Amino acid sequence: MNILLIGSGGREHALANAISKSPRARKLFAAPGNPGIATKAQLVDLDIADHAKVAAFCAANDIDLVVVGPEAPLVAGLADDLAAAGVAVFGPGKEAARLEGSKGYTKDLCKEAGIPTAAYERFDTAQAAKAYIRSRGAPIVVKADGLAAGKGVIVAERVPEAEAAVDMIFGGAFGSAGAEVVVEDFLEGEEASFFALCDGERAIAFASAQDHKRVGDGDTGPNTGGMGAYSPAPIMTDEMVERTMREIIEPAVAAMKARGAPYRGVLFAGLMIGPKGPQLIEFNARFGDPETQVMLPRLDEDILPLLLACANGGLPDAVRLKPECALTVVYAANGYPDAPERGTQINGLDLAAQSEGVEITHAGTRLEDGKLLANGGRVLNVTALADTVSGARAKAYQALAMIDWPGGFYRSDIGWRAVKRERGEA
Ligand code: AMP
Ligand code: GLY
Repeated sequence: MNILLIGSGGREHALANAISKSPRARKLFAAPGNPGIATKAQLVDLDIADHAKVAAFCAANDIDLVVVGPEAPLVAGLADDLAAAGVAVFGPGKEAARLEGSKGYTKDLCKEAGIPTAAYERFDTAQAAKAYIRSRGAPIVVKADGLAAGKGVIVAERVPEAEAAVDMIFGGAFGSAGAEVVVEDFLEGEEASFFALCDGERAIAFASAQDHKRVGDGDTGPNTGGMGAYSPAPIMTDEMVERTMREIIEPAVAAMKARGAPYRGVLFAGLMIGPKGPQLIEFNARFGDPETQVMLPRLDEDILPLLLACANGGLPDAVRLKPECALTVVYAANGYPDAPERGTQINGLDLAAQSEGVEITHAGTRLEDGKLLANGGRVLNVTALADTVSGARAKAYQALAMIDWPGGFYRSDIGWRAVKRERGEA
């Protein structure tokens, strides 16, 4: 098979690693890719926003499957246009990608399909949103409806903070993503990320993970795209996975099919596990980043037939995973998330990557005159596989210590909750 992978982050590097291991993979292309992906794929200069050009590339290079990493091309309808051109795509069409693209759309679908989620209302004026906030009280959560690069959610401890969030969103802080606001109840519990593969008709569990969103140790400081993750999430027991499939994933897949927008690809459910079980915080229409970096090394079978089955139908009954745990630590550029410093030099990566059971993925790097430079906020992911989360964590931090990059920083406590559980302290 010839494959085109779309994206340039650590998630796509992990996908490139998994795909290139497949005996079925003949040629792997990536657009735009990154220096890490370049070790597994041929990078191509392709304007992803120009769907006709992408289709022409696929025709010219006998592409059997396009794997879309990030959400933006999906929301823009890349999968529809490629499917219309006869190309198989891993990733949902535009209408199905609204599960990520519009929080209001997803909340309405939850209500219709009986999917457990926080009570909510949708608003297009500040006045009505604020009146609702005052009637519900705090804590309360205010969300911009559309894609806001993970920044459009404000968990407000007090009513004035929630009202200020409404003003900020309607004031244009997130552009058109803030034309509408969702206000929802605050959910108590422990968060987990859950991933299911869907072929439009059926869904099967893929894997679970937990990530650390805050920039600082002890889960403090501003939110980021994720500073580290581990898989599986200990809270996602077999029973919780079964309930999540039955109460959240399967009803969503059935509802999308009934709406004439069958969901094909990976459905990423952000969950709050509370006393009543799993509740949906949000759906994403793609793999998580950095969750993918910890899920794919655990996969104990060829990934390509699974990705292809999402596009064409015929998913197996289950996915085979290794019993091991994986943990990844994000090495971010100084100044992240507000103002990451670019262009600082990274050394020692090859040596660190030789550590047994360690995989290093590039998330934001570039090569210049043979030097590897930081080129983004989240720059590297150092992932390790071991029998326990504690073991994986020790290996990952050992490898991190071998990297020479004064321009970067990482959290020192990734996996703390799982490690505490393993020690019997939680
Ligand atoms: P989202 O972008 O919807 O995943 O929200 C970002 C983060 O905000 C989530 O990972 C949660 O930590 C938090 N959050 C969102 N909605 C809620 C809610 N209803 N209750 C509690 N926390 C929430
Ligand atoms: N790590 C969270 C996400 O990919 O959205």
